[in-house]
Amino acid sequence: MSHVVASISTASKPDFYAALHRQLEAVLHGERDWVANLAQTSALLMQAMPDLNWAGFYLLKDGQLVLGPFQGKVACVRIALGKGVCGTAAASRATVVVPDVHAFPGHIACDSASNSEIVVPLLAGDRLLGVLDLDSPKFNRFDAEDARGLERVVEILLAASDL
Ligand code: SME
Repeated sequence: MSHVVASISTASKPDFYAALHRQLEAVLHGERDWVANLAQTSALLMQAMPDLNWAGFYLLKDGQLVLGPFQGKVACVRIALGKGVCGTAAASRATVVVPDVHAFPGHIACDSASNSEIVVPLLAGDRLLGVLDLDSPKFNRFDAEDARGLERVVEILLAASDL
């Protein structure tokens, strides 16, 4: 099955996320493979969201975050819990919004183009599976509306997949 991803108006964030959520449900429909769905989700985010230079996943394996499906430049492969933005979001099990990565103590620089970042934990009940990580070349790219919209992206992804 092929999917055409329509362009989404970015006039307002609530409208943008409503359309993004519908597209994600359509793209994942009929497929429950976890890795395939992670890959498709990273591709859709990179295609649809303006001002991103990296979009993808780190998955929890043996107590470490290990690079998963992503779109963007080659990245660091392993991140310890509690380290960097990803490890901080994973350890606290909470979304972390970083307006300026250069001001975040312990930020791990994978792509020098990144200036702001958001990381959303992947939680299936109380089981931590990993994190969704988005980087932007713009400072202050992500806010509380993005956090809510991306937390819903993660819910859709988890509900659509066999974990
Ligand atoms: N900047 C992240 C590392 C992952 S890359 O951005 C893809 C961090 O500090 O955890």
